[in-house]
Amino acid sequence: MTTETGKRKIMIFDTTLRDGEQAPGASLEPEQKIVIARQLAKLGVDVIEPGFPISSPGEFAAVQQISREIQGVEICGFARAVKEDIDAAVKATADAERRRLHMFLSSSNIHLDFQLRKSREQVIGIARQMVAYAKQFVDRIEFSPMDATRTGDEFLFEMIEAVIAEGATIINIPDTVGYALPEEYGAMFTRVMKNVRGGERVLYSAHCHNDLGLAVANSLAAVRAGVSQVEVTINGVGERAGNCSLEELVMALETRKETLGVETAIQPEQIYATSQMISRAMSFPIAFNKPIVGRNAFQHEAGIHQDGLLKNRNTYEIMDPEKLGIPRSMIILGKHSGRHAIKHRAGQFGVELNEQQLEEFYAAFKTLADRQKVVHDHQLLELVGQAKGEVLE
Ligand code: KIV
Ligand code: ZN
Repeated sequence: MTTETGKRKIMIFDTTLRDGEQAPGASLEPEQKIVIARQLAKLGVDVIEPGFPISSPGEFAAVQQISREIQGVEICGFARAVKEDIDAAVKATADAERRRLHMFLSSSNIHLDFQLRKSREQVIGIARQMVAYAKQFVDRIEFSPMDATRTGDEFLFEMIEAVIAEGATIINIPDTVGYALPEEYGAMFTRVMKNVRGGERVLYSAHCHNDLGLAVANSLAAVRAGVSQVEVTINGVGERAGNCSLEELVMALETRKETLGVETAIQPEQIYATSQMISRAMSFPIAFNKPIVGRNAFQHEAGIHQDGLLKNRNTYEIMDPEKLGIPRSMIILGKHSGRHAIKHRAGQFGVELNEQQLEEFYAAFKTLADRQKVVHDHQLLELVGQAKGEVLE
């Protein structure tokens, strides 16, 4: 799909409430899921996967309520290639304005031999039967060959062709164990798109895990290879090292959209609030240095950086934090900070320092900064008060 600006639209499929919730210790109450789904709709995701309806009554109820309430976003029911799962997912999403069913079945030898204990022939048979079964109820069927990146081309193509023939409309090719390298993952999509019969009738989707820290890079490679959808989670939460992070991928696409020629419908100003909501709901702290939403992502301590930033933000920032809903870009004052930054910060509190005052205060500031990593605003104001010979509130 092409957008009004002539760019290729990349659909953002959010699986925070399904794959993200599979992170150890991250489970959510049904009520929390509903609140989060409302925020995801505000954020502008195209698809929400709210959970795994067969897994528990609470999960079923959450998917059902989200399907009933959330408008303008496609709701996706998740299922193994098993009738009971499909029935539960079909039922839970029945009242959605728009819906799809997402079915998965393993394709790699290691999964077939040790987990499913089935032959390739049997697996293709199940995939065909279950897609045909689901197609009676839902038109949009997404199929994922699980552990696809450790599956040989021949069998992967055979499986994808089989499910397309039965009516699958979206083919998601997951890097389930985060094993792929970016050039491999991109090339895999290129080969699938070129060789799979019936492939021109479907949408392709990327789904990456972060075991090697490559989930965003791999998803970008898939975008460059031509996929129309990327599956992500807020803050990159998910099994083990997590999934591709929504905020990182979306801001890479946004910041480099002219190079990549793509666009998403995400409202960047909702990113920070959504990230904070997920962190609180799952009790998962966000690493200080996490791109986009980490505490330090827009903080600058080195004097040279602070100086440049005060002259022009673009010297050391490639995104505007305010456009991500982050209150303001904060300069962290510490032992590397220069006079210019200190004067500026004091000025933000309405304290104008002349040269001499700044000089007197600067030495005291450096002594304090040597003792502790960060000089906090209240300490700065205390010191400034001393330099000016007055007591500041
Ligand atoms: O990682 C994975 O393989 C999945 C699929 C079931 C899509 O989450
Ligand atoms: Zn996954």
